[in-house]
Amino acid sequence: MLKCELDTPSLTLDLDLFEENLCKMRDFAAAAGKKLRPHAKTHKTPEIARRQLAAGNCAGICAAKLSEAEALADAGIRDILITSPVTAPWKIARIAALNERVAGLKLVVDDPEQIRLLSAQATEKHPIHILIDTDPEMGRTGVAFDEVPHLGRFAASFPALILDGVQCYAGHLQHIVSYAERARESTRLMQLGAQAFSILKKEFPSCRIFTGTGTGTAPADVLIPEVTDIQVGSYCMMDTEYLAVEHGGPAFAPALKLISSVISANHPGEATIDAGTKAVYVTPGAPPKVVENNRFVPDIAYSWDFGDEHGHLRFSPDMTFRPGDRLELAVSHCDPTVNLFDELWITRGENVVDNWKITLRGCCR
Ligand SMILES: Cc1ncc(COP(=O)(O)O)c(C=O)c1O
Repeated sequence: MLKCELDTPSLTLDLDLFEENLCKMRDFAAAAGKKLRPHAKTHKTPEIARRQLAAGNCAGICAAKLSEAEALADAGIRDILITSPVTAPWKIARIAALNERVAGLKLVVDDPEQIRLLSAQATEKHPIHILIDTDPEMGRTGVAFDEVPHLGRFAASFPALILDGVQCYAGHLQHIVSYAERARESTRLMQLGAQAFSILKKEFPSCRIFTGTGTGTAPADVLIPEVTDIQVGSYCMMDTEYLAVEHGGPAFAPALKLISSVISANHPGEATIDAGTKAVYVTPGAPPKVVENNRFVPDIAYSWDFGDEHGHLRFSPDMTFRPGDRLELAVSHCDPTVNLFDELWITRGENVVDNWKITLRGCCR
């Protein structure tokens, strides 16, 4: 447990585990001949993006939304891929402005009108780089596999747009518990995406990127020859949702922890802590777990049933907790939990050694 006094609830990042996670994913991708394009939607923290780039073997950084990309650019990050379509005309004007100051800016498109609007804002001096977003049978964003070549050709017909590649991200597969099942389904879909990418690659020399993948499917997806880089996000922090599924590649450790205090303990086998739904995102089926020395403590169950300010712990009767006791918890889903806090307290062993701002907090526009 940490030596210093931190107000609770607070988020901490264990620097040793975080660095181990970074190196494991970097080396794993490099061994497969792929680059990383880590997703900043997980950590929302420019200092982490900087460290991911500095660790090496990176093609760039991903941002989920325009506002995330703008905040990353303000923090000096370049080579940013926006992985969701941007559609409002005034936002497309902001894309053009961002494109003038970030040489490596790219964004995905999945609609002809969006392409027209982008081309109207792009110039010969500042062309806009785009990737066709493919829908891996998820129905969220992207066009069907057989539509990819048509939309790619349409986009490439605008002189101020540069067709850089294709994105295929199968978010619905990432947490399938059985790795064999997850790998089978991801391989099937990524191969379809790869075929569509190869058609465009033959026709357009600029079309060189086939990107996608999350922490869950990465071990299968790196085996697809056409994949150029993997957009992994959660691996650097980890959460109970990911720790509950089989991993097919490197095992990543829960570097992110929530420190919480017991504030009431008047019932045997139960205690109330100061972290409810405002401190840890509700993920049904994957509650936070109490950890000690980076291992889950058995026989303590967290529940959100005490509402927004309080967490409910139930444990075996031979355990006791007193008001003021501090606990470390692995969080349920790291991305939206990080979005609840302004800062990460950086720890080494029992000491707090730094404080990193979660500058992209709330950048969901
Ligand atoms: C487009 C895209 N790419 C990559 C990721 C990263 O996935 P993960 O956190 O599972 O590694 C996400 C996460 O939601 C995503 O939406």
